Amino acid sequence: MSPLLHERLANKIRIRLLEPEDSLAHLTGLLHRAYKQHMERGIQALAAFQPEEVTRRRVSDGECYVALYMGRVVGTIMFKSPEQTARAWPGVPWFDRPEGGVASFSQFAVEPEYQGKGIGMELLRRAEDRAAAINAAELALSTPGPAEWLVAMYARHGYREVARWHWRETNYDSLIMSKPVGA
Ligand SMILES: CC(C)(COP(=O)(O)OP(=O)(O)OC[C@H]1O[C@@H](n2cnc3c(N)ncnc32)[C@H](O)[C@@H]1OP(=O)(O)O)[C@@H](O)C(=O)NCCC(=O)NCCS
Repeated sequence: MSPLLHERLANKIRIRLLEPEDSLAHLTGLLHRAYKQHMERGIQALAAFQPEEVTRRRVSDGECYVALYMGRVVGTIMFKSPEQTARAWPGVPWFDRPEGGVASFSQFAVEPEYQGKGIGMELLRRAEDRAAAINAAELALSTPGPAEWLVAMYARHGYREVARWHWRETNYDSLIMSKPVGA
């Protein structure tokens, strides 16, 4: 790894919306590489194995942001308004409540070699800024219950558990965590 990569990279990246010319094959590969750490612990998250068509469908229902470092996409996060969240996940507790003003983020990943350098928090900040900009009441996420470090990270950043859910595609129970926008 180059010495540069040991630095925090948060101020060297650019975040923008996914554009039509961005490669969904690359984005899908990034998700697979990032989520591999969970697969290795037996946590079968959809993003770890989803085919490109699923990425295409998932990025189409909301705002997909990408983080660029030296022109390369190295991270991503998907933001959904309360209406998009309720439409995407009918029947799911907390998410299926358009009148509750619950925005969400998902498909949150950073290339393994770039993790731990502040890029993830920049992407999360973008989702939080978008939630504030549209006057959402809450920003929520679903995370694998067995991924203890992730649950602890979200808790450190003000997200609390509001529900539990078992997604059909996975082999674990997820925690739905949420934070009042602006808190
Ligand atoms: C979650 C993820 C997007 C965070 O991106 P990142 O660029 O590594 O995040 P940052 O460098 O901004 O660090 C964010 C926090 O996570 C912590 N963190 C990052 N990697 C960690 C690891 N492997 N183990 C424990 N903590 C870790 C950092 O210490 C930091 O904590 P703090 O904000 O309280 O100081 C990234 O680790 C990833 O792609 N993980 C695999 C996919 C995934 O789990 N996505 C989320 C599913 S809900």
